[in-house]
Amino acid sequence: MRPCHAAIADWLKPLNIPTTIDAVGNLRAFYPGNDPAAPRLLIGSHLDTVPNAGVYDGMLGVVLAVALLEELGGKRLPFGIEIIGFSEEEGVRFGVPFIGSRALVGKLDEELLARRDAKGITVREAIRQFGLDDRRIEEAVIGEDALGYIEFHIEQGPVLEKAERQLGVVEAIVGQTRLALRFLGRANHAGTTPMDARNDALACAAEWMTGVETRAKENPGLAATVGSIEAKPGATNVIPGEVRLTLDVRHKHDETRSRFVHEFIGLAKEISGKRGISLQWNALLEQNAVALNPFLTDQIDKAIRNSGCEPYRMNSGAGHDAMILAERIPSAMIFLRSPGGISHDPSETVLQNDVARAIDCGVHLLTQLASSQEFLGRTCRA
Ligand code: GLV
Ligand code: MN
Ligand code: MN
Repeated sequence: MRPCHAAIADWLKPLNIPTTIDAVGNLRAFYPGNDPAAPRLLIGSHLDTVPNAGVYDGMLGVVLAVALLEELGGKRLPFGIEIIGFSEEEGVRFGVPFIGSRALVGKLDEELLARRDAKGITVREAIRQFGLDDRRIEEAVIGEDALGYIEFHIEQGPVLEKAERQLGVVEAIVGQTRLALRFLGRANHAGTTPMDARNDALACAAEWMTGVETRAKENPGLAATVGSIEAKPGATNVIPGEVRLTLDVRHKHDETRSRFVHEFIGLAKEISGKRGISLQWNALLEQNAVALNPFLTDQIDKAIRNSGCEPYRMNSGAGHDAMILAERIPSAMIFLRSPGGISHDPSETVLQNDVARAIDCGVHLLTQLASSQEFLGRTCRA
């Protein structure tokens, strides 16, 4: 992360925009407006990523924010622009996503700070190890002068490509539940233990996983994923005694998501009970679906048209920092088409011409907002 922060600081140097890192590791850079008392518009995305990732998820949104400031060529607007490169959006290290953006809305509580990574390091310790001051977390909270938040992001799915559109306007972001489950059976000898005398935690987890997949396939709009699994003791000739895994469940309707989460937990209880396996589970995340701000969404729609493209209105199946910021300030997102619909993989990519369009759209959006009394008159009204 350090070289990443340094690279962005280097890009902003020619524009005379200094960068700082707040107490949760978010990069922040402020370009003042035409008046010291002018409010600010936040533009950004996240800088962390998933294992074996592509290079555009998150990072592209920060690069585009820098490009927009370059495009302004020093011109001042009736609002300042704060670029934010969020930390820990994906939730890979601590199991909980959006840590950087939660700090901006004052939602980094003690429970989250005490959460541990795989090595037993807490969020608070990680903050200190990075050389940051955990006593200053509250200073990361956005003030009353924040007018709104805009995030450019790759779509990470096939919708825009299929519709032959370069840019999308995001109307809502689906909700997600993340669970950690533990199946506890009995480790035993793989050669001597008869097949009908086993409590195989991995076979139990496998039966449950295929059950979850079958139910999700039967219900359009539902996404359920076991993304990480660990079997212990993990030897060819030992029946697995313990399995830890994660489940990620998403749907645009919160009640439907909750109903399926309960059903999947019920299924785990039923299958483990039948196999003499004990089950433990805990929720890592309960994030409801979020509607983005209609005013900003309409402005983005208009800006896309002004840049010569036909906008496509859609929902996001991926989570984004915008869903956290939306709790506090008007927030909106612009999607760029994802060739092949691939993301969270090294083959994730984006088309150069789509990026050029996105920059053009961003310039139109800033111009529109700069002349909108409706926008400038807002302060912290989501
Ligand atoms: C973020 O990439 C997510 O998991 O939705
Ligand atoms: Mn991601
Ligand atoms: Mn992302």
